[in-house]
Amino acid sequence: MEKTPLYDALTSFAAQNPLRMHMPGHKGKPLPGLDHLAAIDFTELPPTGNLFEGGGAIGEAERLWAEVFHMDSCLFLTGGSTQGMLTALTLACQPGDRVLLDRGSHRSAYNALALLDLKPVYLDRPWLARAGVAGPVSPERVEELLDLHPEIKTLCITSPNYYGVLSDLPALAALMHRRGGILVVDGAHGAHLPFLGNYGLSAADLLVASAHKTLPAPGQSALLLTNGAFSHADLRRAGSVYGSSSPSYAMMAALDLCRAHMLEGGAEAYRRTVEEVARLRQLFPSLTEQDALLDPARLVVCSPDGYAAQEALEGRNVWPEMADGGHVVFIPTCADGPEDFVRLEEALSKVALGPCPGYPPPPPPPEGVLTPRQALFAPRRTLPLAEAEGLVAACQVAPYPPGIPVVAPGERLDKKSIAYLKQIGYNTLEEVSVAACV
Ligand SMILES: Cc1ncc(COP(=O)(O)O)c(C=O)c1O
Repeated sequence: MEKTPLYDALTSFAAQNPLRMHMPGHKGKPLPGLDHLAAIDFTELPPTGNLFEGGGAIGEAERLWAEVFHMDSCLFLTGGSTQGMLTALTLACQPGDRVLLDRGSHRSAYNALALLDLKPVYLDRPWLARAGVAGPVSPERVEELLDLHPEIKTLCITSPNYYGVLSDLPALAALMHRRGGILVVDGAHGAHLPFLGNYGLSAADLLVASAHKTLPAPGQSALLLTNGAFSHADLRRAGSVYGSSSPSYAMMAALDLCRAHMLEGGAEAYRRTVEEVARLRQLFPSLTEQDALLDPARLVVCSPDGYAAQEALEGRNVWPEMADGGHVVFIPTCADGPEDFVRLEEALSKVALGPCPGYPPPPPPPEGVLTPRQALFAPRRTLPLAEAEGLVAACQVAPYPPGIPVVAPGERLDKKSIAYLKQIGYNTLEEVSVAACV
């Protein structure tokens, strides 16, 4: 028998019956209607249509998704929200533009900066000291930065973020529109929100959402949506730059089926999950609505040592999405049933939880020496972070996940940033790439 190391690893892990409190949102349960995957995995033919040419059954399925979000049009993405962010910033900006970018952006946005040679002005957020996380984007802070840089026409933020923190999108969109600009929202973690209520997502001019993160949809399936500012042809043209010319029909069909499933009972199941999350937030020290407006389905528990709590949970076969020094993050979805929440509650009751340890805000961005583009394409060498002080990062240095950079590509690895990374438990023996040309 030939070896199948990956398949074996995955099937043997699945056979352990792990409690999957991480993405993808289907949690290993059967995907609605996808029992015969190969039978519907086609290529571009007259009956199957063509994603990047538009129209046909794909176009109709996209239109139905746009309706769910109350947006004008939607493009299916088979390269995750990563493809969506690259596409959105390609549409929103001209190469060389200055953009106002949420410092907590995912690395796909940072890579878009480099590919498009954009010049970032980083948007910081207020720090929620009790919760130990960054709060919602402050419209006042956005105004302040735009007054300093009136040439900026694109604001790009993440909402909700990994911790479920939501920002006031209608207020931010109105502010940008008054100045003749647009709002790009990385809503990678928010594909389920339209099924739970009105979270203002439709205020975005461009919105990216990963179906696979929080909905019963396979890995990499995602959506790019737009309102008014761009046509469907614009989405297809820019999306095709970053997407495969052979997009998976199985994945696109899964998006179609996922929407139908959500409207036929999935949304109700999600509301039950939201109730379970509210109950667990009461039982265990957690981020709550008192801290900020939150994604009601995201569970973030606090712990004096988030990494130790994560390890203890994994020892009990409960697998969170991520941990940092003071939190453990879970992604419950509509695919989690009552028995899953019983397991989660039992495991949580056995690990050390409590207030997070006065978790410090990230230091201000260090000095920028190279542009993101220069940094990404610079000749580089790697060395342990602990030995890199004074050098210029050619990569992001970010607690992983969620990939929020303490040092962004092109910035100097200064004493303060390295000390901060140590303080939050980042392994400074980890290798970083530095630009060899500076
Ligand atoms: C905020 C955010 N944006 C974008 C992405 C990229 O999404 P995908 O994994 O669907 O490419 C991620 C992935 O974790 C993310 O957390």
